[in-house]
Amino acid sequence: MILSIESSCDDSSIAITEIESKKLIFHKKISQELQHSKYGGVVPELAARLHAVALPKILEEVKAYLPKLKAVAVTNEPGLSVTLVEGVSMAKALALALDIPIIPVNHLKGHIYSLFIEKESNFPQMILLVSGGHTQVIEAKSIDEMRTIASTMDDSFGESFDKVAKMLDLGYPGGPIVERYAQKGDENKFSFTVPLANSPKIAFSYSGIKNQVRVAIQNRENMTEQDKCDICRAFQKSATAHLIQKIKKIFKTNPSIKDFAIVGGASANLYLREKIAALCKEFDIVLHLAELQYCSDNAAMIGRYAIDAFNIKYFEKIEKIAIKPKSAL
Ligand code: KG4
Ligand code: ZN
Repeated sequence: MILSIESSCDDSSIAITEIESKKLIFHKKISQELQHSKYGGVVPELAARLHAVALPKILEEVKAYLPKLKAVAVTNEPGLSVTLVEGVSMAKALALALDIPIIPVNHLKGHIYSLFIEKESNFPQMILLVSGGHTQVIEAKSIDEMRTIASTMDDSFGESFDKVAKMLDLGYPGGPIVERYAQKGDENKFSFTVPLANSPKIAFSYSGIKNQVRVAIQNRENMTEQDKCDICRAFQKSATAHLIQKIKKIFKTNPSIKDFAIVGGASANLYLREKIAALCKEFDIVLHLAELQYCSDNAAMIGRYAIDAFNIKYFEKIEKIAIKPKSAL
C-alpha cells in the first residue's frame, strides 16, 4: 500500500491506496473553507497551522496500515510554501521511521490522475485543468510526457469565480457559490464580453472580465440578491464561453484528438461540464471527467499518481526532497 498526503493549499488530506488493485482503502479530507471564508481567501499562515493539527489527526486513523506501506507519496509542488512544508515534513518522518521510499508528487499531475482513481490510466489525453491556481490545456502522453499547450496570462478560471464572489460579498470559495447564484440568474440582465474573442492567440485571460464585473457592481445602486444572481449568470456565461472558444480552436487545429478531459476544482462546475460535453459531441471526441468528489484537492489523486510512479521507481532520497511552490508541470 501507499500512503499519500496532500497539503498544497487549504485541504488536509491523507489516502491509502493498494498498489496492485489500485483500490482506495482509506481517504479523508479536512477542508479549511470555513476558517478562511471570513477573510475572503486563503490565509497561508492560518492554513499551515490548521494542517499541523489536521494531518496528525487523520494519520491517527490509519495507524493500523503503517506496517503494510511500501512507500509514502506527498505533494511537494506547486502550492503555498508554508502549507507544502507541513505535508512534506510528515512524509519525511514516516519514510524515516518506516524505512520506505518517498514519492514526490506534482500537484498538477495529481489532478490529472484524479481521472484514473481505482481505474487503469488512460493516455494519451488532451486535458483542461481548471483550478484556483491554474487554467491550462495539457497534452498528456504518459506519466512523464506532459506538455502545456495553452495557459492563462493572468488570473485562473477558479480564481476569477473567487474574486467575483468576494466583490459581491458572497463568501469563499467563490466557485460553488457563484454557480449557485448563476442558476437563479437571468442571463440577459448583464452582459460581459468574452475575453480574447477576436484574438487568434490560444491562451486564457480572466482579469478583464473581472474588471467588467467590478464596474457593473460600482454602477449599481442598491444591489439586490436578484442583481447578484444576474451578475453571476452573465459572468459564468462569458467566463465559460472563453474556455469553449479557445478549446474549439484547439480541436479544429488538432483533428487527431480523440479523448478530452477536464480536471481540477473548477471542473465540478456543471454549466462548464454541460458546455464542454456539447463541444466534444460536435467534434466526436470522448469526454472524460473525474468524479465530483475528486475534482477539488484530495490525497486520493496523489495516491493514484503514486502507484504509476512506484511501478517505475520514481523515488527521491529524503534529503533531496524539497518544496517547489512556484513550479509548473
Ligand atoms: O483544485 P482546487 O481544489 O484547488 C487548487 O488547486 O487551486 O480548486 C479550487 C478552485 C477554487 O478557485 C474554487 O472557487 C474553484 O476551484 N471551484 C469552482 C467550482 N468549485 C470549485 N469554480 C467554478 N465552479 C465551481 N462549481
Ligand atoms: Zn488543486
